[in-house]
Amino acid sequence: MEAVEAGNTEHERRLIGAAVAVRGNAHAPYSGFAVGAAVEDGSGRIFAGCNVENAAYPEGTCAEAGAIAAMVAAGGRVLRRVVVCGGSAQPCFPCGGCRQKIREFAAHSLRIDMVDAQGNVLARRTLGDLLPDGFGPEHL
Ligand code: THU
Repeated sequence: MEAVEAGNTEHERRLIGAAVAVRGNAHAPYSGFAVGAAVEDGSGRIFAGCNVENAAYPEGTCAEAGAIAAMVAAGGRVLRRVVVCGGSAQPCFPCGGCRQKIREFAAHSLRIDMVDAQGNVLARRTLGDLLPDGFGPEHL
């Protein structure tokens, strides 16, 4: 996997730090795969979420879903940046469902950074890379 330069602005470091920190609160006793996500909204506010698994397995939720829900609950409707923090040296790319959830609030050019547990950027994509020709609100 490609090496990517780490975040270098203070704001970027805060966003990455939020994703790394919230990963520590993940409830992932079934998969053992803890994930953290942080999003920046259109006003520059940062929201974080972690995966929350459930004994009834399909009821578990992804980290990105939690972060997006926190943003929406606070009145945010625009995603400006997304960071996903997984626990391994392999980037934790958003699952298909989360790509669609991101699509609801983001432009194709939205940047999504995948970082490791130390906050090193492992991969950097746009939403358009991850969900080309995605269905969105403007199609209704
Ligand atoms: N998971 C996330 O929270 N985000 C992703 O981008 C990929 C997968 C979670 C779901 C589940 O709790 C665990 O990781 C294993 O799939």
